[in-house]
Amino acid sequence: MSTLDSGVWAAPGRVNLIGEHTDYCDGFVLPFALPYRTEVTAARLDRPEWTVSSSLTGETVTFDLSEPVTGWAAYVAGVVWALREAGYEVPGARLDLTSDVPGGAGLSSSAALECAVLSALVDLGGLDLPVPHRPKLAQRAENAYVGVPCGVMDQSASTLCREGHALFLDCRTMAVEHIPLDLAGQGLQILVVDSRAPHQLVDGEYAARRAACEKAAEILGLPALRDATLADLSRLDDPLLLRRARHVVTENDRVLATIELLRDGRIREIGPLLTSSHASMRDDFEITVPEVDTAVEAALAAGAYGARMTGGGFGGCVLALVDADRAAAVADAVGQAFAANGFRPPHCFPVTPAPGATRLS
Ligand code: GLA
Repeated sequence: MSTLDSGVWAAPGRVNLIGEHTDYCDGFVLPFALPYRTEVTAARLDRPEWTVSSSLTGETVTFDLSEPVTGWAAYVAGVVWALREAGYEVPGARLDLTSDVPGGAGLSSSAALECAVLSALVDLGGLDLPVPHRPKLAQRAENAYVGVPCGVMDQSASTLCREGHALFLDCRTMAVEHIPLDLAGQGLQILVVDSRAPHQLVDGEYAARRAACEKAAEILGLPALRDATLADLSRLDDPLLLRRARHVVTENDRVLATIELLRDGRIREIGPLLTSSHASMRDDFEITVPEVDTAVEAALAAGAYGARMTGGGFGGCVLALVDADRAAAVADAVGQAFAANGFRPPHCFPVTPAPGATRLS
């Protein structure tokens, strides 16, 4: 592998079409990359030291990993750390970051940062780390260094997605299928509504959901909830664990049903699956908040084929599948419902499936 002295790399944020909180249960997900990304302009240094600047915060941080790195730079340090842990000789580097991925909206700005930095360091160092292995390494940076117990969906989407396609990922085997998603060709649009709801509970509640799923699998004597059927769940006595597990089991089924429809090009027909996914997150997994429930209801009442919260939950974004010529009316209806409930105005924008991480120059 040859090394590079410098270059520019980019990696995108994502939305998840369907398959929420299934990734850490060894299940199925169907995200696509957003046309918003983090770009890193990187240059190799001749010493084991990393200097990172962010145009978002205006800060510059230098570290050599002899001491723990905290704050946003921990995502960068985590990638260096995870590469070293995996036995790679990581080149020192100057990394200048800029991003238009909305932060704090559940659109994977952290995965975009990790994956852009990972691409840059791999190419600068000429490291032999095949693309399919990169999501797990970026996930390890976040799990073990930053301390967030996320699954592998976001890093996979940011790394592996293709323009015009959603990424069907089996999180157990890491097998991928790129599913064509020609929204415009069918007069459709996916509208994202950033609810802008403050989500403070996110870390502890996410970890609690993950722990509940692991507990349920353990009680059932299964490696993960991926292996459970609805019939198995009658063996769970605890009603809370039963509801958590039911979300995961039914959500995996909904992903598979969505894939079947999309393989046939029947995009409109996935609407009801999106909406039942939302109901399952609201009632069984209990990860929605009034703002996102309101956005879903208002979008459906205004004619969306389906709508659901996307991402980890407790705020963040909703996506709605709409006829392109109804998108403005749906966005308007959501805005009015937010005003009527005294919520902050939402941000609504259409999204199309964009490519994953890439070297720009
Ligand atoms: C966050 C995590 C992902 C996934 C989703 C929920 O985005 O980072 O790994 O678990 O929540 O589907």
